[in-house]
Amino acid sequence: MTDTAAWTEPAPTPLALLLLGQGSDADTERGVECPGALPPASDPDLVARARAAREALGSRAYVLGHHYQRDEVIQFADVTGDSFKLAQQAAAHPQAEFIVFCGVHFMAESADILTSDAQQVVLPDLAAGCSMADMAEIGQVEDAWDRFVALGLADSTIPITYMNSTAAIKAFTGRNHGTICTSSNARQSLEWAFARGERVFFLPDQHLGRNTAVLELGLSLADCVLYDPHKPGGGLTDAQLREARVVLWRGHCSVHGRFTPEVVDEARARIPGVRILVHPECQHEVVRRADLVGSTEFIIRAIEAAEPGSAWAIGTELNLVRRLALAHPDKQISFLDRSVCYCSTMNRIDLPHLVWALESLAAGTVVNRIVVDTDTAHWARVALDRMLALPGVGATPSPD
Ligand code: 13P
Ligand code: SF4
Repeated sequence: MTDTAAWTEPAPTPLALLLLGQGSDADTERGVECPGALPPASDPDLVARARAAREALGSRAYVLGHHYQRDEVIQFADVTGDSFKLAQQAAAHPQAEFIVFCGVHFMAESADILTSDAQQVVLPDLAAGCSMADMAEIGQVEDAWDRFVALGLADSTIPITYMNSTAAIKAFTGRNHGTICTSSNARQSLEWAFARGERVFFLPDQHLGRNTAVLELGLSLADCVLYDPHKPGGGLTDAQLREARVVLWRGHCSVHGRFTPEVVDEARARIPGVRILVHPECQHEVVRRADLVGSTEFIIRAIEAAEPGSAWAIGTELNLVRRLALAHPDKQISFLDRSVCYCSTMNRIDLPHLVWALESLAAGTVVNRIVVDTDTAHWARVALDRMLALPGVGATPSPD
């Protein structure tokens, strides 16, 4: 490994402690404290305790780990993946009595919807929500849809909801002839929708919707309008809604939304020959300036396929970027931003919470079970099944 290839931790900021899951964050999707007696983080036996509880549970439990989880947690995952792969994997393990989801609340809800009634989904910390999912509440979405109905546009508008949303909004999507998408299949979902309607109502991530519509389907920025749930009528005129091809919900990821066009320019100036690789939840101007864009699985595959000695600046969650850098010391991998960028809610799942959840299950107590009510689950499943039936799983090609 050369000096330039060595991984350098981005600078810690005063926000870093909160981002690392210490202290309380009242603004998270759930914002709740753990109801149980957590082992102290200082317990030197935590790893051994997690291992023992995992072994005691055996094939009764299946542990899913999203790529943004901490190292201390990811080591206990039976499978790691992005949100699409984890949804598939939850559905593919009907024999597991317990699905322990090391990810965030909306992912655990999807796992509950996709698994049988005999299976129980556990989220080790209920405070692991998602700020993007918080940006679309079902009441707001129904108010917006009423507007489409009143204008006679509902029959020609297909809702597409990003996986990063509550089960209630997925159910709304199922009821209204739409589909779910993830960052792995957003293009296929938009193509599916435009084969069935004239316009797409894309929730809740404006950036994924805009990037996919413009960079993959060849629509123009003017074809996309932004619906702001905090403004009367979404801040759009009747004519704007009628003429739009894509109506984007005003939501974003607080992690990926932080990357700016300036940090891309700065990385190019700082690192000779660097290639910029970003997630499609990043702002449109960041994605436009990048060399490659795709889901977390795509990012991992791109780095695995990269030639030794190549230089990369990656714009996604820091746990994943750090693991990629450590796994590929022959490549020069850096974080796109100079300051830390963990997902604060993903990081809520730490080793003490995992130990507590696994030991409780092994002792016969199901803690932090995520249950979606029957009607919501039915309609959300309709929308999720449409996604799972979409042809192929791709990634956004590099913009020129
Ligand atoms: P993917 O897992 O689909 O890449 O989405 C990233 C993300 O933000 C998950 O919360
Ligand atoms: Fe939500 Fe962004 Fe965190 Fe994913 S990375 S869970 S979208 S806040």
